[in-house]
Amino acid sequence: MTPFMLAYAPSDESSGQESTYAAKIDSLLSLMTIEEKLGQLNLPAAGDITTGQASNSNFAEKIRNGEVGGLFNIKTAAKIREVQRIAVEESRLKIPLIFGMDVIHGYQTVFPIPLALSCSWDMELIERTARIAAIEASADGICWTFSPMVDIARDPRWGRIAEGAGEDPYLGSQIAKAMVKGYQGDDLTQNNTVMSCVKHLALYGAAEAGRDYNTTDMSRIRMFNEYMPPYKAAIDAGAGSVMTSFNEIDGIPASANKWLMTDVLRQQWGFDGFVVTDYTAINEMIDHGLGDLQQVSALALKAGVDMDMVGEGFLTTLKKSLEKGIISESDIDKACGRILEAKYQLGLFDDPYRYCDLQRAETEIFTQEHRNEAREIAAETFVLLKNENNLLPLEKKGTIALIGPLANNKVNMPGTWSVAARFDEAISLMDGMESVVGDQAEILYAKGSNVYQDSLLEARAAAFGKSTGRDPRPEAEIIAEAVEVAKKADVVVAVIGEASEMSGESSSRSDISIPETQRNLLKALLETGKPVVMVLFTGRPLAMTWEHENVPAILNVWFAGSEAGYAIADALFGEVNPSGKLTTTFPQNVGQVPIYYSHKNTGRPLPEGVEYQKFTTNYLDVTNEPLYPFGYGLSYTNFEYSDLNLSTTSINKNQKLTVSVQLSNTGKYDGAEVVQLYMRDLVASVTRPVKELIGFQKVELQAGESKTVSFTVSEEDLRFYNYDIEYVSEPGEFEIFVGGNSRDVLTGKFSLVE
Ligand code: BGC
Repeated sequence: MTPFMLAYAPSDESSGQESTYAAKIDSLLSLMTIEEKLGQLNLPAAGDITTGQASNSNFAEKIRNGEVGGLFNIKTAAKIREVQRIAVEESRLKIPLIFGMDVIHGYQTVFPIPLALSCSWDMELIERTARIAAIEASADGICWTFSPMVDIARDPRWGRIAEGAGEDPYLGSQIAKAMVKGYQGDDLTQNNTVMSCVKHLALYGAAEAGRDYNTTDMSRIRMFNEYMPPYKAAIDAGAGSVMTSFNEIDGIPASANKWLMTDVLRQQWGFDGFVVTDYTAINEMIDHGLGDLQQVSALALKAGVDMDMVGEGFLTTLKKSLEKGIISESDIDKACGRILEAKYQLGLFDDPYRYCDLQRAETEIFTQEHRNEAREIAAETFVLLKNENNLLPLEKKGTIALIGPLANNKVNMPGTWSVAARFDEAISLMDGMESVVGDQAEILYAKGSNVYQDSLLEARAAAFGKSTGRDPRPEAEIIAEAVEVAKKADVVVAVIGEASEMSGESSSRSDISIPETQRNLLKALLETGKPVVMVLFTGRPLAMTWEHENVPAILNVWFAGSEAGYAIADALFGEVNPSGKLTTTFPQNVGQVPIYYSHKNTGRPLPEGVEYQKFTTNYLDVTNEPLYPFGYGLSYTNFEYSDLNLSTTSINKNQKLTVSVQLSNTGKYDGAEVVQLYMRDLVASVTRPVKELIGFQKVELQAGESKTVSFTVSEEDLRFYNYDIEYVSEPGEFEIFVGGNSRDVLTGKFSLVE
């Protein structure tokens, strides 16, 4: 290896303190020209280059000129080593590049989509997925991931609901922390940890009408109570970087929003990492109507943005703004210093090839061990939505008809945002069932329908080359063939729902029901009189009242990652007992959206148990109830809750209360139950939600076993942001609820006293 020559002092590896790097950063800044400083703020996408081509690629010249701070969308240790070599050998100051990627739910070993992972309610498991993702990505040259995405989302029309942890700020915060910990470990300089980038600050999930990139607008009080907590939690957990969102907040797009990026993020929350924009978000402020590229770039820098993803507004205009006195050199130095600091923290100044160990790529990516873990983890994310007469689990015997547009499809298994997946090696449900059943039962297959009968819609659902294997025959013919197959079987497994690219970025839907052709298939299958189990593929909550009313068993498997087929088969045949619980509400119809459990009471609440009452808050044509509430999910066994007990009826600010409940597994199978603790602040200076999650525990119980499950509640759990955005608790009465979902709960009461 060519020795790496430093024009400045190397970092002290023994300490990650900012102060350790400050002097080094200052001395480096003093050597840099304005152009070189602006170069550090520039993050182009690498595009596809083949190994050996890096020195001739269109960005090589820019790197030599010191016009690039990092690259993303480039992978393999070999390629990244080549590119890094240009930076550290051929540029004047030899500053290493940072290499980023969207490692969202696994790398080559793909885990379920984030929304699915959240349904495990298992923080160790979620942290483990991030850890494995970091090991694999860093073995492939990457040291920075654009994850976790922690945007609270309450609108299932928004396709990116698939990428987050659902609707709840408390659960979302726990998950945000677990992910950051998993990626970053305890020591960012280790070659198998990566820096995380929490995104998208802020409120991206509240896009109006669920249309991606759309405007958001909300009160500060809602913002701080309901949307901000997960971002803050990720920052408290030490996330090294933050990504801006595309949307506006209070009329100013995030990337120009100084209140957000400086006052809140840095001053209130104490964030000291760097801020990168989302893809071309600075340039997009021209269309938002904030000025030309020079103006919006200056606004972004002034607001607190450090790195410009793709758009090159910083690179091409900030010098002019400096000359005009619109920005100062110290604005540039601040941003540049933060990026250099991240590179110090990652250990890149000591060894720019730290993440380019060709050996690791051979032995640490897509290993059998990782794949085995992915299989086990996937099964923990499935949510059993219905199971009439214990139709599930299936027995491994007789003849099973496997029917559905994606039942024998590999490329749709990993789910949206799985850019490093080995799609051809993903496990289809057909593969998985055959492997799990072996020769104990016969599996017959028919496609049964397309995802959509409309070829235009299906083409959109098959973006990025994720073929749905479209069948050109008329609908009736495809269905008739499936009915014949079903008639020969003892039981039908109907694989119904979305293709993976029907959720994710720029995949909003105004109609969130099952596409008509698939419903026609389901009807035909049900008419055969055979028992039908519906396996649901989806990246969002769907409005599936008809399916709930007509299909006896429904297992929601989301998009379960590279080992999906095995994991689904494990659950269908009872090797694993489903224990996932929904983290977003399923509406009865799209008109109820946004619908979430922690809503306010209003001044005219509908009395409990009443379906409709004039002059109360409700609809003429649908009840207020969701189809499936937040926290909901069944098991092959039954759990019963009894004996809710509060250790005292009042606490002061320094005291704690124990809430306990008896949980019994009264069914035939061993299983795990997510016990959920909610509270309601009955009287406060501002209106409070009817329920708020403040704790949960995943408890394993053998068949017939009972356990006492206890939670500790203290004053801290009762805090919220008041009208002045102060984080306070207020004395008064509180209700406590414990149950297996947000609707079916046992209730108690206590007071917080001065
Ligand atoms: C997405 C981000 C992503 C970025 C880089 C954008 O379109 O909104 O979430 O990290 O692209 O790929």
